[in-house]
Amino acid sequence: MTKHEFVEKNIGLMVILIVVAISFGGLVEIVPLFFMKETTLPVAGIKPLPAVELEGRDIFIREGCVGCHSQMIRPLRAEVERYGHYSVAGESVYEHPFLWGSKRTGPDLARVGQRYSDEWHRAHLYNPRDVVPVSIMPAYSHLMHAVLDGKDTPTKMKALRLVGVPYTEEQISSASSEVKGKTEMDALIAYLQGLGTALTKKR
Ligand code: HEC
Repeated sequence: MTKHEFVEKNIGLMVILIVVAISFGGLVEIVPLFFMKETTLPVAGIKPLPAVELEGRDIFIREGCVGCHSQMIRPLRAEVERYGHYSVAGESVYEHPFLWGSKRTGPDLARVGQRYSDEWHRAHLYNPRDVVPVSIMPAYSHLMHAVLDGKDTPTKMKALRLVGVPYTEEQISSASSEVKGKTEMDALIAYLQGLGTALTKKR
């Protein structure tokens, strides 16, 4: 019996060897990424989200916006012409969890920041059909009436600091007062207006 036949006829051994072969293939692709600077270094000018935008991001998650909107522009000509510069890894270093998404019922939002005015967003979120008559996006008018108290914002920042987001003591201590009294709509719009602007220096 040749060595090859021996492996093929011992299913247990073959399973182990298959696992070893596949893990090796995976590790060769994944491990170098941990050491490549461009995947772990923040792009110049990127800062942890200010308190209000951080709350806006949580509303974005809670309302399920990510279920219809990706935040990941692929380096393909059609995407870059429509949405702007493709997304780079260094833009997402402070994102926990990532909101890259994969479902695009609506357009990608990775660079929507500063594309429209705050008033446009307010009208659009209040009732998308008022500004885009054929829109199938749900209305989020209730966000106008929900007022934030900012009680949990410092705790959220401290938790993010544990996983490497460099919030300063000053940012944490002023977070509650910055957020308190803002509506959820204001916070969400502040978040949207910051999206993708660090790389393209729009803000
Ligand atoms: C059911 C799917 C769906 C959900 C959920 C959804 N959207 Fe949309 N969104 C769309 C569609 C479709 C469009 C394109 C038509 C339009 O502009 O209204 C759109 C457009 C947009 C635009 C304009 C983008 C551009 O480049 O013109 C923004 C901003 C936006 N949505 C934000 C949000 C936010 C914030 C939420 C969560 C509060 C959300 N969307 C939830 C489907 C959705």
